[in-house]
Amino acid sequence: MTAPALPTTMTAIAIPEPGRPEALVPVERPVPAPGPGQILVKIEAAGVNRPDIMQRKGLYPPPPGAPDIPGLEIAGTVAAVGEGAGQWKVGETVCALVSGGGYAQYGLAEAGHALPIPEGLSAAEAAALPETAFTVWHNVFERGGLTAGEVLLVHGGASGIGTTAIQLAKALGARVIVTCGSDDKCAACLKLGADRAINYNTADFVAETKAFAGGRGADVILDMIGGDYIERNFEAAAPDGRIVQIAFQNGFKATVDFRRLMLKRLTYTGSTLRSRTDTFKSALAQAVAGHVWPLIAAGKLRPVMDSRFPLCEAAAAHARMEGSGHIGKIVLVP
Ligand SMILES: NC(=O)c1ccc[n+]([C@@H]2O[C@H](COP(=O)([O-])OP(=O)(O)OC[C@H]3O[C@@H](n4cnc5c(N)ncnc54)[C@H](OP(=O)(O)O)[C@@H]3O)[C@@H](O)[C@H]2O)c1
Repeated sequence: MTAPALPTTMTAIAIPEPGRPEALVPVERPVPAPGPGQILVKIEAAGVNRPDIMQRKGLYPPPPGAPDIPGLEIAGTVAAVGEGAGQWKVGETVCALVSGGGYAQYGLAEAGHALPIPEGLSAAEAAALPETAFTVWHNVFERGGLTAGEVLLVHGGASGIGTTAIQLAKALGARVIVTCGSDDKCAACLKLGADRAINYNTADFVAETKAFAGGRGADVILDMIGGDYIERNFEAAAPDGRIVQIAFQNGFKATVDFRRLMLKRLTYTGSTLRSRTDTFKSALAQAVAGHVWPLIAAGKLRPVMDSRFPLCEAAAAHARMEGSGHIGKIVLVP
């Protein structure tokens, strides 16, 4: 296929000064050229993720070599192919995990971090997949080792990450309990397949988790809250339980009675995706292609879409996420 002529400039969203949502400003930037092993994607949709908010506030700088433009996941059409990235052809539709640059009309992706858009999914739905699918697969299944029949506790069940974790864990035979901040969010999680949803404003998740799991507790806990949840997760975990930390929305320091680690033989671990090596992300992409994509094809997993905003209204998309009224994913469409 002959590559269509590419424009030389594009609209992107920059963060000239960290701050409130209005810190996200449309700018004109050159369309980047793919280097070795990279593809250029004409972006049709980009996912908005909580780490983008941290970046906007100046609390999560892009890793060395990553674009300063925010945006960690994209979907669209391959517009150019760099040397050694011949597994992709111009015109194919892809979604990809990127280390930045998603809030733009064009973006670069490592060829190994891109996956085909699953059949039947729109570009907006596909853009909502990579960050959560990669994060949940790695943390819940590879690090947490969740297996069929075990109990998974997910904090933030109605988040982009949470809604993916519920569907994946249920599809693979686990029992799922979630926490959320409102009854509406709890209802959405139950509708999605969660076995139990706890409104953390009206109930104690430690007692509820133990009651749900016949007194044992959760085999795996996926936590994005931190703070006093760290100690309470140690209480809510089952013997030989695994607690996986992926964020610290309520603070990263805590006083913890560590005797439970020893007495219950707990494993406490965590990870963050963006700073991992390209090689690691390529291997994870293959794992996601092998384990998660077939579940999408089988209709067992579909991104939960909250809302779409035009690219130039990225500030409004961030305000929506920070207001915490959303359920599932927010995407930007150029
Ligand atoms: N480590 C990694 O590799 C990695 C990768 C991607 C994302 N993350 C992290 O994962 C988290 C989710 O990301 P996202 O993009 O899916 O964001 P999101 O949709 O904005 O989700 C954040 C969620 O946290 C919930 N929450 C806040 N305080 C809570 C509490 N005390 N108990 C239970 N839930 C609480 C909010 O819901 P309520 O209204 O119900 O409180 C909201 O659903 C973020 O913290 C992000 O930084 C980590």
